[in-house]
Amino acid sequence: MYERIPARDCRNVFMKTAGVITNGRVTFAAVVTVIGLLSMALEAGSLQAAANPAALSAAAGGASGTTIPLAESLGVHFVPGSSSQVLLERDGKTYLVDLAERTIQAKDSPTAAQVDTVAHLEPSHSTPQGADLGAKIFSEKCADCHGAGGKGGGSRKAPDFTSPAVQAALPDALVTKIIRDGKPGTAMPAWGGRLSEVEIDAVSAFVKSLGPAKNKNSEHGVPQAAESQTAKVYEPADDYLFSMPTGRRLDRHGLYLNFTHRFAYTPAFSGPGGGNMLLGLDDFAIASFGLRFGVTDKLSVGAYRSPSIIGRPIEFMVAYNLLDEHDHQPVNFAVRASVDGQDNFSKNFTSNLEFIMSRSVTRHAQFYVAPTVSFQNRELIQKPGPLPTTPPNLPGFNTFSLGIGGAVDIRPTVALVAEVFPTLANGPEMGIHRPAFAFGIQKRVRHHAFTLGFSTSPGTIVSQRAGTRATLLGNSSADTPSGLFIGFDLMRQIY
Ligand code: HEC
Repeated sequence: MYERIPARDCRNVFMKTAGVITNGRVTFAAVVTVIGLLSMALEAGSLQAAANPAALSAAAGGASGTTIPLAESLGVHFVPGSSSQVLLERDGKTYLVDLAERTIQAKDSPTAAQVDTVAHLEPSHSTPQGADLGAKIFSEKCADCHGAGGKGGGSRKAPDFTSPAVQAALPDALVTKIIRDGKPGTAMPAWGGRLSEVEIDAVSAFVKSLGPAKNKNSEHGVPQAAESQTAKVYEPADDYLFSMPTGRRLDRHGLYLNFTHRFAYTPAFSGPGGGNMLLGLDDFAIASFGLRFGVTDKLSVGAYRSPSIIGRPIEFMVAYNLLDEHDHQPVNFAVRASVDGQDNFSKNFTSNLEFIMSRSVTRHAQFYVAPTVSFQNRELIQKPGPLPTTPPNLPGFNTFSLGIGGAVDIRPTVALVAEVFPTLANGPEMGIHRPAFAFGIQKRVRHHAFTLGFSTSPGTIVSQRAGTRATLLGNSSADTPSGLFIGFDLMRQIY
């Protein structure tokens, strides 16, 4: 079936295709081929409406004046019911080009079968009256983020409406409510007011109809239990609970900023902190910041710096996510290796190895364990003397700490977080007599997280986070609960 493409859309197609290049998801050669073919097909299609059919027939390699043979002779097939997908035949292979998602997938099955498969994403068991309207609204208003077939994915992380698990977690009333009110803290906008109630009902029905029919499930032997697991995966709002890493995956090519403040000098709830010092917030803060970058969706790198008062360390890190609940694995598992050196990476070097495991309990909570080995770790002390001078040489100890933490959503975008870092090997040598601990409240906004917490741990890099106020301030009772101080974390995903 041929769909006429107005000239304005041609420009869109070009811009979106150009986006494919910058996204770098396909090889340059493939992009050039695709652009070439698409531009020929589209230009030919719109030119034809304008004038000169004879020239066009020539361009189409002697095909008759109709556009279907033209598209076919170019190896281009429009996907029925989709305004963003095109099938492209090239050197005996078929590629599914999704302009909205900016992806190109190689398909080895024959074209006709492909068109068929994609066409199956069209509703097959929806109510006839609402279905047309629903499908139309979906392709106009939703497909940009959710994909023409509702399969989601892409950079916006929209859910896959064709998955039985996603559908199982979305009763009809909830679908309607989400469409009307949106999902705060995510990219999902509210449509109430922009769509009429009739339109919302129609598009809800369409979304529900995208789910596979019950019997399809057993045919493909998809175990329902394993599938429904993805619907129960918790999404940590930040790379940290407070100082404890969540080990969450970063987006491929995503850039993240982490900015932390620890007001370690004034306890929040005892002494002068509570009253005129705003829980210690108007005292001196230890402010650290770092950047993290997703090289792939599993491999990430990062650099992080803490200020002079705490030894001026710079930490470099490589992290790899080996297991992920989103991939139907029973736990999330990430390994991180890091090395830090004080005085801007020039002395007192410590190397760390962390194994971060986490598991979701429903999609509203997640629990974390992070065994951490630090080689040649240094006692946490406040740098003596004026700030620009070099921190002192300190003896190194190999330490082992066991981070344990949890996050529980109390509202859709608000979680309570808590963590504790007992040091199980060489704690006394490091002056750590009580485990560092923290708890707080974490708010997610799209691509941001803000965590306000209370802690006894002034350090935020891997080697320092198990240390407590007692050694920093040279006061052995400074890390008791009455010594809890306030702090906050800001995370921003820049790209
Ligand atoms: C700007 C991008 C965008 C647009 C436009 C958009 N959505 Fe969404 N939608 C999302 C994202 C992202 C999510 C996932 C939110 C999350 O993280 O839970 C979502 C979630 C949903 C959900 C809930 C799924 C779940 O598993 O909780 C429904 C239902 C939904 N969208 C329907 C629609 C409909 C219908 C339209 C069009 C009228 C639409 N969306 C338009 C981005 C979008």
